[in-house]
Amino acid sequence: MKTIAIDGFSSTGKSTVAKQLAKQLGYVYIDSGAMYRAVTLFALQHGLFVDNQIDKAGLVSELDQIDIDFNFDLNDQKSHIYLNSQNVEHLIRGMEVSSRVSHVAAIPEVREKLVALQRKMSKTQNVIMDGRDIGSVVFPNADFKFFMTATPEERARRRFKELKAKGDDISFEEVLENLKMRDDIDSSRSHSPLIQTEDAIVIDNTTLSQQEQLQLMRSYIDNYL
Ligand code: CDP
Repeated sequence: MKTIAIDGFSSTGKSTVAKQLAKQLGYVYIDSGAMYRAVTLFALQHGLFVDNQIDKAGLVSELDQIDIDFNFDLNDQKSHIYLNSQNVEHLIRGMEVSSRVSHVAAIPEVREKLVALQRKMSKTQNVIMDGRDIGSVVFPNADFKFFMTATPEERARRRFKELKAKGDDISFEEVLENLKMRDDIDSSRSHSPLIQTEDAIVIDNTTLSQQEQLQLMRSYIDNYL
């Protein structure tokens, strides 16, 4: 089975390009960030944030109660994430989860559970997975590793536009602050920090259109697949 890993900072367009590549190549797209978001939603729903701090021991003791799955929706032709049989695709995208997810993702036991699940998903199908530790930890032998980057301002601009379009009442500054905070926590945590591996192809898409970026990544893949 083949694997393509796409890592990088928040809002660098990883999922957009991963979905496009998956469609073109006939691979299954797996959004690993959605899995960390779903665990964060579970913690919120179960009162595991006390004074806005995650109760680590409490969450770890309930990890066995968390079941995460992806199901393809025939109506919108997209894969949706399910938390304990409930479709939570929309619930996990808001600021309530975004502002807390990096603290949850820094917990080793959470990562171990999700990494095991991610590896299992790649056993029987060709996958393209995006996240922070895909090329470094989940699939160190991936067929391709991409590392996406862009300036924080450009990334915040894109995410702000996306959230506004969904009707979220949020300021540009809040979005920028959230991105910078997550980048900071994700890069400095001791367990599986976000790093650029030596064998990753770096894509800086600050000034690239989606089409240009897709073509650039295809040019690497097509030469070797
Ligand atoms: O799409 P966006 O860049 O906002 O983030 P995401 O991919 O949905 O991931 C949300 C958060 O989950 C990240 O900020 C990380 O804290 C965490 N994450 C992680 O630690 N490892 C991964 N493989 C994927 C996400």
